[in-house]
Amino acid sequence: MRKVVKSVSLLVIALMVILSAACSNDGGSEPANADSDQTYNFKLAHITPPSHMWHKAAEKFAEELDERSDGRMQMEIYPSSQLGTEADMVEQISAGSVDFGFITAAYMSSRSPSFAAWFTPYAFKDLKEANEARDSEIAKKILGTLDEQGMVGLDYFFAGQRVMLSKDKKIEKPADMDGLKLRVTPSPPMQDFYTSLGASTEGLPLPEVYSAVQTGVIDGMDMDLDATITNKYFEVVKYGAVTNHMVWPAVAIVNKNTFEGMPESDQKIIQEAISAAAEYAALTRAGQEEEFKQTLKDEGMEIYEIDSSLFDPYKKQFDEKYGKKDPLIQEFIDTFRD
Ligand code: BEZ
Repeated sequence: MRKVVKSVSLLVIALMVILSAACSNDGGSEPANADSDQTYNFKLAHITPPSHMWHKAAEKFAEELDERSDGRMQMEIYPSSQLGTEADMVEQISAGSVDFGFITAAYMSSRSPSFAAWFTPYAFKDLKEANEARDSEIAKKILGTLDEQGMVGLDYFFAGQRVMLSKDKKIEKPADMDGLKLRVTPSPPMQDFYTSLGASTEGLPLPEVYSAVQTGVIDGMDMDLDATITNKYFEVVKYGAVTNHMVWPAVAIVNKNTFEGMPESDQKIIQEAISAAAEYAALTRAGQEEEFKQTLKDEGMEIYEIDSSLFDPYKKQFDEKYGKKDPLIQEFIDTFRD
């Protein structure tokens, strides 16, 4: 009998400990194991080389996760398209074999057209302004469009803004585009902008761009300064017009079941870690603008600016066409256009 009483007392004590742990959770609705020792070995994939800002931001995200979870969250990073194209990576993320991805907004706009909003030309004065837009209602609504696709959109990572690079002909005004064949990321809003300027566009994959411009298959490209340096395009183009006409975000996505299956406290760690890494990417990158321009000048390129008001009629064309396509794009334009 004494044995039975002892067992019942132990059971009651154990139940009280479990109940008090559950009650101490801030969220109230969290699973009881929120403060458990659950460990994670995440995988994150992206397409850029280790020298590019998106990889550095992925490393920062991994460090933040490690610190904020006291080592419970570890992450392996697969850069340089090691796991395939962006289409492959997104499939792997929605299937759950990869947890996280930093995927270009250009590719994501083929999965959810609202992401095209980020290519509204001249929507932001600079990267700092674009970074502030990450927290806007409309930016979050666009991330929310991924919910139906087995993914959660977490945040945006800016690797600078887009510039115009040309091999032999200096582009000083929109009319200079006439007859030029430019590589533009295969994303309709980006390509439409160039077509409206009079250029013809080739949607070559990034690994083919260097040799295409070297051999004269294309006359130049739309690019960001970071990738111009990391991919050594300065070896094959002479002119760089720093137009900063569009921002260039990667979208941080995570498998929905992985994310929603975690205790709320762990989801919070992920949200805070990703936000810190996204802030680091945009602000570090904003601070590198002058350094990157100087690097390209030192490599022999002519780097210059073009008066942005020359592009006003093309901005209007874009707004009219894309605003009609999607209410979230219209809301984005209404929110950020001066
Ligand atoms: C591009 O397609 O232009 C690109 C992709 C990733 C990083 C930089 C540029």
